Amino acid sequence: MATFKRPIAVNEEIILDPERALMSKTNPRGVIEYANDYFMTISGYEEQELIGQPHNVIRHPDMPKVIFKWLWRRLQEKKNMHAIIKNLAKDGRYYWVITDFEVKLNDMNEVASIVARRRTPPRMTIASIKDLYKKLLAIEQAQSVEVSERYLIGFLEEQGMTYDEYIEDICFMKETVPAIEEKDEKPRGLFAKLFS
Ligand SMILES: Cc1cc2nc3c(=O)[nH]c(=O)nc-3n(C[C@H](O)[C@H](O)[C@H](O)COP(=O)(O)O)c2cc1C
Repeated sequence: MATFKRPIAVNEEIILDPERALMSKTNPRGVIEYANDYFMTISGYEEQELIGQPHNVIRHPDMPKVIFKWLWRRLQEKKNMHAIIKNLAKDGRYYWVITDFEVKLNDMNEVASIVARRRTPPRMTIASIKDLYKKLLAIEQAQSVEVSERYLIGFLEEQGMTYDEYIEDICFMKETVPAIEEKDEKPRGLFAKLFS
């Protein structure tokens, strides 16, 4: 007997399981070498479709370029980074993640690989970042990524925060995330609370 399948509306959000992480690992140029089961379930790709592909296979057109420009600059400096990203699933739906990018170095202190662990962000975090991304994208479409970068720098200056402080601020707004005791903190800082 045929089973009824609800038609998927493009632009529909996939709500993630807060208990599960989507993990992928790439080479230094961002070519996917590994993805966990939950990543494949959510993105809608089979393992053989993903491995060997550049990571922009899941890039959503709503994401401003400047965020990836800052990501790659950071990774090339062998530094870790966190970013809130809207990703595109194979069927056209989307999902928001807070991503922890971790650079793995080899014995010669070169980037050997990059690991990305993603979790669902608090809803208020998404609401905050959406407006900023919308503005950055509009500036990029009307002008250039250089102009959107200057806007982002100005925005952060107005907040009186660095990029990292801003991300931390919107991810740990007091009313959305219960306080966690200092003693629970792991060496990689506040984000250990999300990624532990
Ligand atoms: C480990 C790793 C994970 C990444 N994960 C994502 C991701 O989840 N979504 C995304 O759009 N880009 C991700 N990227 C960035 C992509 O490589 C790429 O820079 C981005 O999609 C923008 O595409 P473009 O450079 O072709 O404009 C990741 C990069 C690395 C190194």
